[in-house]
This record gives sequence, structure tokens and C-alpha cells, in this order.
Amino acid sequence: MVLKSQLASAGALLLSLPLAAQAQEAPDADARAEKTLAQMTDAEKRVLLYSRMLGFIAPAKRPADITLGAGYVEGIPRLGVPPLVETDASLGVSNLMNLRKGDVATALPSGLALASTWNPAILRDGGRMIGSEARAKGFNVMLVGGVNLVRDPRAGRNFEYLGEDPLLAGTLVGAQIEGVQSNNIIATIKHFALNDQETGRSSASVNMSEAAMRESDLLAFQIGIETGKPGSVMCAYNRVNGQYSCENRFLLTDVLRRDWGFKGYVMSDWGAVHSTESILAGLDQQSGEQLDKKRYFTTELDKALAEGRIGQPVVDTAARRILRTIYAHRLDADPSAGKAPIDYDANGKVAERAADEGMVLLRNEGELLPLARSAKTILLVGGHGDIGVLSGGGSSQVAPVGGFRKIEKAGSGIAATFARRGYGGLAPLDALRAEFPGARIDYLDGSDPAAAAAAASSADIAVVIAEKYATEAEDQKDLGLGDGQDELIAAVGAANKRTVVVLQTGNPVTMPWRDKVGAIIAAWYPGQRGAASLAGILSGRINPSGRLPVTFPADAAQLPNPVLPGSTLPPPSKEDKATYGIQTDAPPFDLEYPEGSDAGYRWFDARGHTPLYAFGYGLSYSRFTYDRLKVSGGKTLRVSFRVTNAGARAGADVPQVYVRIAGKAKRLVGWDKPVLAPGQSKSVTIMADPRLLADFDAAAQRWIVPAGDVSVEIARSATDPVLTGTARLARSEIKP
Ligand code: BGC
Repeated sequence: MVLKSQLASAGALLLSLPLAAQAQEAPDADARAEKTLAQMTDAEKRVLLYSRMLGFIAPAKRPADITLGAGYVEGIPRLGVPPLVETDASLGVSNLMNLRKGDVATALPSGLALASTWNPAILRDGGRMIGSEARAKGFNVMLVGGVNLVRDPRAGRNFEYLGEDPLLAGTLVGAQIEGVQSNNIIATIKHFALNDQETGRSSASVNMSEAAMRESDLLAFQIGIETGKPGSVMCAYNRVNGQYSCENRFLLTDVLRRDWGFKGYVMSDWGAVHSTESILAGLDQQSGEQLDKKRYFTTELDKALAEGRIGQPVVDTAARRILRTIYAHRLDADPSAGKAPIDYDANGKVAERAADEGMVLLRNEGELLPLARSAKTILLVGGHGDIGVLSGGGSSQVAPVGGFRKIEKAGSGIAATFARRGYGGLAPLDALRAEFPGARIDYLDGSDPAAAAAAASSADIAVVIAEKYATEAEDQKDLGLGDGQDELIAAVGAANKRTVVVLQTGNPVTMPWRDKVGAIIAAWYPGQRGAASLAGILSGRINPSGRLPVTFPADAAQLPNPVLPGSTLPPPSKEDKATYGIQTDAPPFDLEYPEGSDAGYRWFDARGHTPLYAFGYGLSYSRFTYDRLKVSGGKTLRVSFRVTNAGARAGADVPQVYVRIAGKAKRLVGWDKPVLAPGQSKSVTIMADPRLLADFDAAAQRWIVPAGDVSVEIARSATDPVLTGTARLARSEIKP
């Protein structure tokens, strides 16, 4: 109950229309599953327990009329059980390796851009949109809901995820899943658990105490599952405390089912299964079975059943969970599946609204922005700004409407085999020309810094797009932009003080040139309409309202692991690959996170490090003030205050509530995103989820809120408190 009210206040003003009734589980799912199960043969039950990658199967041998995607589970036609047709991912319907020749889909901004909105309604609308496209293309399972926490700003997949805080990431992923599942589709929260970096993703063991994981990564999943009710959970590649995630009874049974009451099914990641016995630990479905060493849930399972190592009731349980999920999300009752037309124009607007709110204005010296509409000459430099915007590589990459304008192999190792560096969507150059019709806008690719500086010196404004590609299956070696871009920006900034830097990156980066430029915008990978949002922010048509969902460190020395774990190891041996599977990029190693549950800003807070830009930070063209703070304690924390737009423009603010208990690092317990006209005020009330005030006691198997004083901050970011107060909490215990 408390959680609900807390969520209701997070983004309260911006909550979208009520979702269609489809978002709710069908009430007869259990009964229908039981009935179908009773009619199935044992062989039919096993059909549900594995998926294949149709791209690996010769066209003549593929089932007819099945859309090619990440995986395919045969159905049981005689009983009306539909096949499961799976597609990636969280940013739209992907088309990895152009499996469906020339097929495109609406490309949302990256996960970090979505998280920068701090607005569950944006995630929900985006989810509803991408889910509808998936459904229209013939899919009924969408592998969406990446919520691994950002622990290291060099991790390759951070761009897909929703930041470093469990409340923020969990709340947002829940909204996204709810939106997706309003289309009679199963969504899959992933990657469970602690798959927070790519180096060693199949060979590393993440070692962490139960308390630390419950208070961090697991809490993000828990909140996401409570609010979004995904039909499925995808277990991860890595080991957790020595055991593979997909055969980890603690994760898949004790935590997920016993404690959280999860009723859906667990699917593996692709190439993450290492035994048939995984089914005893709680894995229900082997995904993309061609990627594993053995067909653990087909031929190997048959053997195990014949030898009595696994009993038929175990198979029944897994099949029942999958059937139940099919019925709960009405997969068998949508006649429009695969036939609906897609309104790409309308869907593009959903992606654009997300980018409008997902860009973060980091610096704006002397109110350089918004640019006077009267600017006569604008120089655009770098970032392939003449052809499109960059996207992150790997399974989440969406071929945007209009297709890629440039796509090429990049990176090394496993990533190079399937991930691509691609540019598409509206090009920044075209967007600027549309936004500033009276201006002369020139473009230089930035390969010649001296030429760019010379051109900048005679332009009214210079806009430099800096870019850094990130991808699944490969981490980044450092925090720098690379490719001479720091030098390029410094040269242009020295030539023209009115230089705006736009960062198209999948991660925080360092900015040695920061003080030499007038303005900085973190645009992330902004999606197919992101350039329109960027132009709108430059012109002032849009008042920026994004806030960082991750800390930007000043340098790697501030990180819990100054050297990326596993990055100094030799390449994996043949034996390592044979043991850990085809995703193996490093020998096995122990991956320790010294920060424990204090990921991101909490670590910076505990250590007293000053970041380059703090979690929660972001500027607006307006100015917001806070007052009338009231704080009360007791069983939980209730905080109310007033936000006023004291500036001259309408805009949205993101006031954040942090708490600190007795010497511990501060924690975010709530926020709101009110949209306010100049002079307008709004009262905000936040009820803290008591788990955020608690420590997890593994021996007692309880969250324990200690009795005592808690200090409260109403803040503009994790390092910028505006109002402070104190409340006294009563001791309480909460079930896990
Ligand atoms: C990724 C998953 C993805 C799956 C299917 C894996 O490599 O880790 O996120 O859903 O592939 O494409």
C-alpha cells in the first residue's frame, strides 16, 4: 500500500490515461492452465520448455508464417496454445543482423535517456507503443525490461538500462512493462541478476552479501515486478556467489517465487544455461537452445526423465507456469496479432516526447541557451550530424523508421560478431534547418579541428556533437570520448565562446574541456526523433526537464573499482570457452563490488567524492523554488513541500527527496515531476517505501527499519539539498 501511494506521487501530474484492461492479468489464467495441462501429453508439455532461433534454421525447415526474431517456442495447435514468438527489446522492436530484411520499427531513445525523464508516464507510453509494434509484427513475447543497475560507468550495456538507483530504475521499468503488456504480450524483466557489466558476463562470479543485493539490484527487480507484473523473468549469464544465475535456487526460487510471489515463468538468457538440473532450481524455459553447449531442456531433459534424475511433476510445473502466463496475458485471444497496420507517424511522436524529456542540460553559462531565434549562422560539427543519430549496439538495437543511413562493424571480440554501429533517424543537420529556417547552417565532420575552429570563429553559434559508441558484449576501456574529440571541442570552444557540446553517448564521460564551452547537453542515444528534441531545446521550444539517472565521475579514480574488473585478464582459453559457453570473453574471475548496496551517488556520498555531475542533476530554462517542508515519522516517513516556478517560462521540475539514517549513505525515497506555468505552485507529498529506510537483515530474513532519527533533504540533485528536516521513525520489520 505504501509503495503504491509513493508511486502515485512520483510523476503524479504526468500519469497518462488509464491503461486498457488488458494490462491486468486474466482472472481465469490458473484454471485454464490447469485444464490445458490435463489434456496435454508429456511430450507436448516439453514443447513449451525451450525456444529456438529460427535464423539458425534453413528457410525451408522453418515453420511458415512465423515472424523471425530472437526466439520461437512451438505451440500446441490441437489445444489452441499459441506459439511464443519472441523479439527484443526495451528500445523498440529490434532486427538484429537484419534477419527480417529491411524491416524497421520506431526507435525510442536509449534506456538512460528514458530514465533521465524521471517520468513513469513516458516509460509507460513508450512501452505501450513498442509493444503494439511488436504485436503488429507478429510477436507475442517482448524481451523488454532491462533493469540491471549501473554500477560502473564503463559497462557496455548501461545505455539499455535505467540508471543506478533501485527506486528510480524499478519504478520506471515497472511502468514500461505495464505499457508493453497492455498489448496482450508477455514482457520479460532482465537480466536477473547482477549482470552489471559485460566483461566476464558468462564467466565471472559476482560475489555479494544477501543484504547488499536485496538493497540494490534485487530491489530494482522487486519494485519492477510489483508494479509492472511482467509475465516472465530472464535469468542472466553471470554467476552469483559462484552459481550460474539460471541455476541459482536462491535467486529463482527463494527470492523470486517464495519471497516475491512471482507467478510467471523464468526464461534463460541466450546461451546462459549450463545444466538440465537448472529446472530444479527454478528455470522453466531454455532460450535460443542452439547457443548453449547442449540441448538441456530437450534431448538432455528426455534422458534425465528416463533415468529418473528429474521427475515428471517438475516438467508439469514449468509447463503450467508458461501456460498460465499465456492465458494471463491473453496471447490466444488477439485476432489482430500480426495483421494490424502500424502508424509510424504517431509512434514517432511518442519517441520524440521521450527524447524531449530525456535530454539533460548540464551547463548553460551566461544563459547561452536557448539560442536567439535570430541567430544567423550556426556551425554544426561532428557526430555524423549530417546523416542521423547514433544508437547502441547489440540485441536492443532498433533499425529506425527510414532505415540506417550508415551501419558498420565496430569493436572487437564477441561484440564484433553481432553488434553494429548504426546511424539513422532524423539527422541533427536537418532538424536544425527546420528549427531555424532563417539561419545559415553549415556542417563540418570534425576530422580537421583547425578547420572547425576557423569556421566556428565566424559563426554566431557552434554546436559540436561528440559521440561514443557503446554495445552489448563489450565494456568501454575508459571514460574518455576518444577519437580526438576532446581536442576538437577544446579547439572549437577556444575559437567561439558560444559553443554548445551535445553528448551522444551510452555512458557518463569525462570533460576536460568543460570550462571552455558555453553549454553542454547530454542527449544520450536520443532515438529516431531525438534530433528534433535537440533542436527544440536549442531554440527554447522545449524547456529541458531531464535529470541524470547516473553519476558522472570526475575520473575513474573515484569509482569503487578504478580498474574495470576483469579488464586486465588475458583472453579466455579454449577450455574456458568450452566451460562457460560462446559468450565467454574472459577467464573466470570473482567480480567484487566494494560499494555493495551503495551504488552510484551513495558511494560518492559515503566517500565524500565530488562528482563531475551528480545523480539527479539537470538545468532548466526556468527556476524552481521549494518551501513549506513538513516531515513526519512514526511507522514510515511522510514528506510534503511546495514547488514554485519562479522563472519566466513554463517547465517541469524534478524535486527529489533523499534520506539519511545514522551515518549511512543517503538514499532517494521519492520525487515528483510537476509541470508548472510561471508563478504556479504545487504541493508534493511523498510517502517513503519503508524498504528504502530499512536495512535487510539476512539472518532474520526481514527488512528492519531502525528506530531513530532520519534526516530528510528536498534537493535538486544528490548533492544539492535545498530544504532539510528531521523525523523520528519507529522500529518496524517488513517481510522480504
Ligand atoms: C541478451 C538479451 C537478449 C537475448 C536475445 C542476449 O544476448 O543478453 O538481452 O534478450 O540475447 O536476443
